[in-house]
Amino acid sequence: MAEKVLVTGGGGYVGSHCVVELIEAGYCPVVVDNFSNAVRGEGDVPESLRRIENLLGISIEFHELDLLDRPGLEKIFKKHSFFAVMHFAGLKAVGESVEKPLHYYRVNLTGSMNLLEVMQAHGVRNLVFSSSATVYGDPQRLPIDEQHPVGGCTNPYGKTKYFIEEMIVDQCKAEKQDWNAVLLRYFNPIGAHSSGLIGEDPQGIPNNLLPYIAQVAVGRRKYLKVFGNDYNTLDGTGVRDYIHVVDLAKGHIAALRMFKDNCGCKVYNLGTGTGYSVLQMVKAMEKASGREISYQIAPRREGDIASCYADPRLAEKELGWKADFGIEKMCEDLWRWQSKNPTGFNNGTAS
Ligand code: UD1
Repeated sequence: MAEKVLVTGGGGYVGSHCVVELIEAGYCPVVVDNFSNAVRGEGDVPESLRRIENLLGISIEFHELDLLDRPGLEKIFKKHSFFAVMHFAGLKAVGESVEKPLHYYRVNLTGSMNLLEVMQAHGVRNLVFSSSATVYGDPQRLPIDEQHPVGGCTNPYGKTKYFIEEMIVDQCKAEKQDWNAVLLRYFNPIGAHSSGLIGEDPQGIPNNLLPYIAQVAVGRRKYLKVFGNDYNTLDGTGVRDYIHVVDLAKGHIAALRMFKDNCGCKVYNLGTGTGYSVLQMVKAMEKASGREISYQIAPRREGDIASCYADPRLAEKELGWKADFGIEKMCEDLWRWQSKNPTGFNNGTAS
């Protein structure tokens, strides 16, 4: 029998790509999502999951659930015996988190605490957590390895990632024999599944660079605002470590394998190790889409850093994982998704 993995937030961008990889690796995902960032499809299932079911010809167990609904969560743990949990559910808009910090703390921290407590009560003690390179704050050195100090992030969203990491670390310490956790610090996930059926579908105006560029390419937005061209980088624009979302998802499958040898609490960067500037990404998307991408230089965005890229060697050494895809493939796949779905999962209702 396939081992069952609970996927919280499995209707979202990274979660849904992990669901595909879980199935392909022979696991049985059980998905919970509250639709806060997933489009509702036929049968009250996230449209992303409905498409995965069609693509792979299987059915996926789905529960509409908010992690703040603890009795609802208990029910699912009573029904199934999970090998592990992959925890993606949470709010993730930096700007919004500054405006509504309490909301972010309640949803992300209380939701995660409920999850950990229910796992504890039901003897499920293998956890993969979707963390972020944002926990490193403004880098003191580059590339960033896992030993780099954490907690320097200044916005509530980033702090919730850091606090959740700390909760998990402490729980693993308290029950060394039983708990295993892999904290995955993502750099900048972009791209889409090569089928073009699932991808990133930000609600409203995209905050992140590649979704914005893709919407300019497809004609949904007029031009990109480049936030600052006076950074100390090769062309003055911000440099980031973009990673293909399918590579990222494969990193999660590699993390599950660690649980077989009782790994305790581990932390890994998931990045490629190479940084690209905003203007390099604009060029790469122009090439992939065959469209011109207009842009204007705008003031720096508050809270932005000049450069951020990973030292990904620990994941290679211990997880046996490394990113395979370069920015060409990332942009090609992003373009396939965006051009087939100009308005995302909500076909026909452009915002
Ligand atoms: C942002 C978040 C970070 C979060 C990550 C993934 C901020 C300050 N940081 O990181 O906490 O973990 O997303 O969700 O929001 N850019 C433009 N124009 C745009 C958008 C972005 O020039 O319209 C530039 C940015 O200045 C940056 C680069 O593109 O140099 C990447 O931006 P983005 O995709 O938002 O990612 P991060 O800033 O790395």
